[in-house]
Amino acid sequence: MKKRVAIFISGGGSNMVRLVEDMADPDHPATPVLVLANDADAGGLAKAADMGVPTAVVDHRPFKGDRRSFEDAIQSELDKVQPDLLCLAGFMRVLTEGFVAPWDGRMLNIHPSLLPKYKGLHTHARALEAGDHEHGCTVHLVTPALDDGPILGQARVPVQPGDTADTLAARVLEQEHRLYPAVLRRFAAGETAPLYL
Ligand code: GRF
Repeated sequence: MKKRVAIFISGGGSNMVRLVEDMADPDHPATPVLVLANDADAGGLAKAADMGVPTAVVDHRPFKGDRRSFEDAIQSELDKVQPDLLCLAGFMRVLTEGFVAPWDGRMLNIHPSLLPKYKGLHTHARALEAGDHEHGCTVHLVTPALDDGPILGQARVPVQPGDTADTLAARVLEQEHRLYPAVLRRFAAGETAPLYL
């Protein structure tokens, strides 16, 4: 039986697209069962629908900071499709321990830095400010601590002279699109040893 994967997005969902495209391979050990967004205007929703993946929206704004109720609404969408794995892909909401704990070991995230460096936001600008010669992305298991779980894979890019946060982000994103599908394939097949591209 293939692992059933729900993917969480907030915007364009470029990583989600690559994951869904890779799972179109009949030999892939996983299949997408839902793309969930916290914003009805997320561009990735139309892309998911075009690829035949069911979608759902749970807008966080009506919950006005009541994270638990927001997460209960998410869980009720998940209950409908019974996923085995969750993939956060450009999902910009912090999930509480109450939501994360039952998914321990079954929820993945991609973060645009070489963790443990640069947890949180604005990772590319921070790498440039620090004068780093190398940057990259990490796929990790999600734990209640932000951007802190066991590493499942990393890909590195050189920082080039004249790089801006945008040029560096674009170079990292290209590697995200390689790394996340490769890690999900392995993880869904039961392989948890970290992959370094
Ligand atoms: C990307 O910068 C990625 O590093 C982070 O969220 C941003 C948008 O990703 N995970 P996507 O294009 O929505 O997948």
